[in-house]
Amino acid sequence: MKINGKPWRPVWLENDGWAVGIIDQTRLPFAFETLRLENLDQAAHAISAMQVRGAPLIGATAAFGMALAMRQNASDPNLGAAYDRLLRTRPTAINLKWALDDMRQRLAPIAPNERVPAANARAAQIVEEDVEINRMIGVHGLDLIRQIAAKKDGPVNILTHCNAGWLATCDWGTATSPIYQAHDAGIPVHVWVDETRPRNQGGHLTAWELMNHGVPHTVIVDNAGGHLMQRGEVDLCFTGTDRTTATGDVCNKIGTYLKALAAQDNGVPFYVCLPSPTIDWTVRDGIAEIPIEERNAAEVTNVAGLAENGAVVQARVVSPGSSAANPAFDVTPARLVTGLVTERGVAEATAEGLAGLFPEKAA
Ligand code: MRU
Repeated sequence: MKINGKPWRPVWLENDGWAVGIIDQTRLPFAFETLRLENLDQAAHAISAMQVRGAPLIGATAAFGMALAMRQNASDPNLGAAYDRLLRTRPTAINLKWALDDMRQRLAPIAPNERVPAANARAAQIVEEDVEINRMIGVHGLDLIRQIAAKKDGPVNILTHCNAGWLATCDWGTATSPIYQAHDAGIPVHVWVDETRPRNQGGHLTAWELMNHGVPHTVIVDNAGGHLMQRGEVDLCFTGTDRTTATGDVCNKIGTYLKALAAQDNGVPFYVCLPSPTIDWTVRDGIAEIPIEERNAAEVTNVAGLAENGAVVQARVVSPGSSAANPAFDVTPARLVTGLVTERGVAEATAEGLAGLFPEKAA
């Protein structure tokens, strides 16, 4: 997507052919800064510190991290050590393991002196595949927006949670891809952007993306969605996911479950947009089996913001001395999900629905 007319992706291979560039998402929206990653440590830190975040982008960055590790030491033991190190960076998004498994499988059988170019080539290919997958999610999601637009006057009001936008992927985003494509096709859309405490990925990142693309949007506090749905001000919800089970349960940013409950109570369609590498075919019960990342309590007790003098400051918003808990994801049971928008089309959120679209994986 473009920023001030210039196309950007959130991760790229630098012109020297080996270092990796990223947009530092911890600095957005207050500053646009890029970082250069030169080794495994820096790649692992970028993921765990959320300089890059969002399930597909975590996977792509980890793939490049494997290439950087091979450049440092292309031996068999280091292949295994780099895999283990990167896998520990974040526990919930399955795209991380998907990308690492893919890289290890391809690199293990080849000679160490061939591993660096092979790793870079495959990481770059993972990026291109993700871009195309997300474009196709947008094509299928656009049909859903069109159907609603045909039945009403005025913009289609879409609620989204967290950032499942182009910053969370290699381009387009998942939940935002249909929105960008509808906007570009001249269909009037308006997006309700959940701010998404504690890290405010909605208020910081989704709002910044939509503004840069000129898509009308309004940021709301996380608790406002149910109220807006009761008043008929939400036509549909689109969210992303960090891991979807083979039976259609959806794990996503904390608060997604409450939006799905409110959507069901109000008859609002609740769609989850996902690339197939986000499906964990080994898991059937999302609540029992998906590990939920517990992040630092400081993300709850403090918020980052822009002070009147232009400085970015951290402010404490919780009574001093009180402790805080910070589960970062929750699981929305499949029964609350209207449909799963994938690169191959829209599936029912059931084992049969997913198997119908991905028979080779389900088997
Ligand atoms: O903790 P984050 O910011 O990595 O969480 C991101 C989300 O929950 C996204 O909705 C999800 O990864 C889907 S991104 C296309």
